[in-house]
Amino acid sequence: MIDDLHDLASAATARIEAASSLDDLRALEADLLGKKGRLAEVKKQLGGLEPDERRAVGQQVNDVRTTIETAVGAKRAELEGEARRARLEAERLDLTELGPFRGRGHLHLVTQTQERLEDVFVGLGFTVSEGPEVETDWYNFEALNIPPSHPARGMWDTLYVDAGAPQTVLLRTHTSPVQIRVMQRQEPPIYSVMPGRVYRRDTADASHMPVFHQIEGLVVDRGISFADLAGTLEAFTSAYFGGSIHSRLRPSYFPFTEPSAEYDINCVFCEGRGCRTCGQTGWLELGGCGMVHPNVLAAVGLDSETWSGFAFGFGIDRLALMRHGVDDIRELFTNDVRFLSEF
Ligand code: PHE
Repeated sequence: MIDDLHDLASAATARIEAASSLDDLRALEADLLGKKGRLAEVKKQLGGLEPDERRAVGQQVNDVRTTIETAVGAKRAELEGEARRARLEAERLDLTELGPFRGRGHLHLVTQTQERLEDVFVGLGFTVSEGPEVETDWYNFEALNIPPSHPARGMWDTLYVDAGAPQTVLLRTHTSPVQIRVMQRQEPPIYSVMPGRVYRRDTADASHMPVFHQIEGLVVDRGISFADLAGTLEAFTSAYFGGSIHSRLRPSYFPFTEPSAEYDINCVFCEGRGCRTCGQTGWLELGGCGMVHPNVLAAVGLDSETWSGFAFGFGIDRLALMRHGVDDIRELFTNDVRFLSEF
C-alpha cells in the first residue's frame, strides 16, 4: 500500500505539473483530493488494516495529501500569474499607437482673428490692454461723455446687472470703457489696443449676437491730429487686408469723439468694383472712430491743452466673417465642429 501511495504521489505531481489551465487544475484537484478521489479510496481501506500498519499508512496518506496540496498550490500560482499577464497584454492601451493622425484641434476663428489683429497693431507700435466685462455706468457711459438720460444711450441696448443701485452695474456694451481705465492707469503717451467681449440686448440674427467682440484703439500724445488717425487706420488696413485694400472716413457721431467718423474699407470681395456683399457701393463699414472728446480727457484728469488723441473701435467677429466670406454671425457661436474645423 505504501508503494501504491508513492506511485500515486509521483503520478499526481506529474499530472499537476502538466496541467495547462486553471480549469484542468481544479478538475485534477477534485480527482485527487475530493471525497470520491484516489486518496479517499485509500483512506477507506485503512479500517481493514492492523493498528501499526494503519498508523504508518495513515501518516503516509497525510504526507501524500500535503505533497499534492503543495503541488496544486504552486501550479495554481503559476497558472494565475500567466492568466494575469495574458489579460494585461490583451487590455494594454498604448496611447502612442492610436493609428492614423486625427488632428489636434486649434484656436477658434474669433480668437485667431483677435490674435492677428493684436499682432498687426503690436507691429505698428501699440500695446495690448484689457478691462473687465462687468462695468459700472461711469466707465461705460458717464466718463465717455454720456451722462444719465443722454439721448445717445439709445445707441447701446444695455444689459444691466442686478447689483448695487438700479442701473449702475452693467455688462459693457463696447470696449470704450477700457480707454478710460488705460488713461487712469498710465500717463500719456498712450498707444494701445483693447480687444474683448461686449454685450448688448439684441436678438441673435444673421448680423447680430447679444455677445460679440470688439477691438478698441486709443492714442493720446502731444499734437495728435485727425491726419494721424486717418494715417493709422490706413496703415492698419493695408497691413491686415493687403496692399490693395484702402480705407475712408465718413462724418458720423459718437459722444466720446469730436469730430467723429465711420471707418470704411474697400470691399474685400470685389476690391471696390461693387458686389452683393457691399450692396454695389464698393465699401464695407468696419467701425467708428474720432478725436478723443475734451470731456473724456477731463474725466480722467488730462489737460486737453497739452494732450490730444484719437480712438477707434470695430467688431472682430464681423471682420472674421468678411475675411472668410461667412454670411451668418451665428455660425461662429453654434460650435459645430464641421464649421469650426474649416479654419
Ligand atoms: N464704441 C463705439 C461703438 O461701440 C465705437 C467707437 C470706438 C467709436 C471709438 C469711436 C471711437 O459703437
